[in-house]
Amino acid sequence: MDSEIHGAVEALLEEVAVATQPEPLYDVRRLRGKVAIVTGGSSGIGRAVALEFAEGGTHIAFCFLDTGAQSRLDAQETARRLRALKVQVYFRSCDVRESHDVKDFVAEVQEELGGLQILINNAGIGRDGALWNMEDHEWEAVVRTNLDGAFFFTRAVAPIMRAQEFGKIVNVTSVHGISSEFGISNYASSKAGMIGLTRSAAIELGPRNINVNAVAPGYIRTTRLTDGVAPEILDRAREQAVLGRLGDPQDVAGVVVFLCSEAARHITGAVIPVDGGYLL
Ligand code: NAI
Repeated sequence: MDSEIHGAVEALLEEVAVATQPEPLYDVRRLRGKVAIVTGGSSGIGRAVALEFAEGGTHIAFCFLDTGAQSRLDAQETARRLRALKVQVYFRSCDVRESHDVKDFVAEVQEELGGLQILINNAGIGRDGALWNMEDHEWEAVVRTNLDGAFFFTRAVAPIMRAQEFGKIVNVTSVHGISSEFGISNYASSKAGMIGLTRSAAIELGPRNINVNAVAPGYIRTTRLTDGVAPEILDRAREQAVLGRLGDPQDVAGVVVFLCSEAARHITGAVIPVDGGYLL
């Protein structure tokens, strides 16, 4: 009798174990047909993330800040490359600092693309300077874009993801949310704030099967970096990274998509440096 029960229990355990096996690493097939919002998707890291998702068949909505003709051309170029990958695309300028605009954008995405499963809070800026010289508007622009923007988008998608009991959110913070340097008090504060937001959102949304994580890129070769940062700072960053190089946008994109895949289903509230060992 004992052995019969033992056998039945073993069989049950095996069945349960099989049923709950995670998918193989980075199974993009499971992301096919889903809808992802990428904020600041028109250039740099955001564009690379959008393209990486689209490679796996995920439909993309992205927003950007209209700062003139070049910003609109960048957005159109991203949309063109996405459409070439045969996914649906919705994009428009939407200022992440404006909570009403964010709310409208999220509603439009649902209507245009028929759902919403993934949010990548990537839009971000820097306005560097010693804190004793920093103007109110320089502090506000950075904190409102990087931190308020991520909060507004997270708040706007939360009811949708909670109702469907599924969602993936990834916040693009920075190594400078973990350690700082001279002249970036606004940026470092906003990025550290995003880490707090990541953990809080993970706690509040986890019970409804929503994963919230962050990536913390080191120095990544985007035009923002190559045009805006002094060459000697980039040389120092390259030396400080134990892998001896700057990162590429694709280096970040791969980790972001992984965090949204079934392979990462048991990861939440994590902050993953993508920095070539810069923080070591
Ligand atoms: P980028 O300047 O190429 O792209 C920034 C994107 O954000 C653009 O699409 C822009 O239109 C959008 N954006 C800016 N303000 C906005 C607003 N108010 N509303 C809506 N969209 C807005 O910059 P990059 O380098 O691709 O940076 C992307 C993210 O990665 C940022 O959050 C940045 O802080 C972060 N990051 C970048 C690193 C790097 O070395 N490039 C390192 C660590 C983090």
